[in-house]
Amino acid sequence: MQNDIIDSKLIKPVSAMANKRQLKLVCTADDLRRVSYLMKLIRFKNQLSSAILFVFEGQIYAYVNHCMHMHRPLNCEQDAVFDETGRYLRCSMHGFIFDPKTGECQSPVCFGQRLQALRVEEMDGAIYFAEKHLLLID
Ligand code: FES
Repeated sequence: MQNDIIDSKLIKPVSAMANKRQLKLVCTADDLRRVSYLMKLIRFKNQLSSAILFVFEGQIYAYVNHCMHMHRPLNCEQDAVFDETGRYLRCSMHGFIFDPKTGECQSPVCFGQRLQALRVEEMDGAIYFAEKHLLLID
């Protein structure tokens, strides 16, 4: 699914609690549940990158969108981050697959290496990044 169907007008003002904890508002929980994944440009630990967020088996996950094999975004060749079964994340460059719950690579060359997980929180119907060293670019 496309990222551009997110309707940010539905997002309520950031709560005082979220401001105090320096949470970064991403989207509404409903918006994330309507798409297969969402991509956001970020600066994380002083590196410009992107993040992917998705819902898998009812839980929200986020990772830096960076395949350790040849340093490409998972969706570099097609607008998808899951394989055809929907059970694994898949890098579209060479097809390496990853456990959506842990980010662990399941393909032989990079077996056991993990995508960089990003902490996310759901609060009052909104999704936030809960990473101190992360800036949202878009
Ligand atoms: S760059 Fe991701 S599988 Fe090769």
